[in-house]
Amino acid sequence: MFKKLFIGIILFLMPTVLFAAVYQVKGKDVAIVNLQGRVFMREQLGCPLHAADSILAYLKGKTNIIFVDYHAEATSEKMALVYYLEGRVSGIVGTHTHIQTADEHILPKGTAYITDLGMCGSLNSMLGVQKEAIMNHFLTQLPVKFTVDTAPPFVLAGAWIDVDTATGRAVAIERIRIIDEGKVA
Ligand SMILES: [Fe+2]
Repeated sequence: MFKKLFIGIILFLMPTVLFAAVYQVKGKDVAIVNLQGRVFMREQLGCPLHAADSILAYLKGKTNIIFVDYHAEATSEKMALVYYLEGRVSGIVGTHTHIQTADEHILPKGTAYITDLGMCGSLNSMLGVQKEAIMNHFLTQLPVKFTVDTAPPFVLAGAWIDVDTATGRAVAIERIRIIDEGKVA
């Protein structure tokens, strides 16, 4: 009982990784927010939902064009943030898994969403890292050094979101995945 209460207090006091910046884009203020999830993540962090509330309070009156990059592992945790912020931000895009999902859509209250954008990097790699060392890790369970794979072909993945700048509501979202053979013409 006391142990649970103590852990609860510690988690409540833990900082959540968050970042918000407002940029000028073609004369409009656009806010970019980064949040980090907690499920299956090693860091012991505070609640991203409460962190989002704090950031949105800070952004109130500054801009209604707001994009959230949610760096999280679990799809359930990503969905929880989406329904928590639906109608309060223009778009929420997931990152961290490096595998692009095919679930892009606009929620009824005008928030665009995709569970994971995917990655930009070497296509035939292990999430951007040279696969030999990772394979060795799975075979031996020993720690290995990660080396970024720079070999072609390359993949560029992401999403394009159109926003009504008057309301901040998303009107379209398109998934992007381009493979470049990396050959010089
Ligand atoms: Fe990550």
